[in-house]
Amino acid sequence: MKVQIDSQLCQGHGRCYDLAPDLFGEDEEGYATLTALTADGNVPDGREGDIRLAAANCPESAVLVFEE
Ligand code: F3S
Repeated sequence: MKVQIDSQLCQGHGRCYDLAPDLFGEDEEGYATLTALTADGNVPDGREGDIRLAAANCPESAVLVFEE
């Protein structure tokens, strides 16, 4: 599974990094970033559920998930 943040869509609601703070971070303006665990776009094994939960909770659908 792969994950990306669509920075055009992200409005800084913060639900992604509240739900999974080790998988998503925030920049100085509160917009979502990836973290050391997800920076290469690959979802760590066993964390697919957390990624899906974050994606489902983003009001802007800015967490993009690619099933492989
Ligand atoms: Fe942005 Fe959605 Fe997270 S708007 S900060 S990607 S919950």
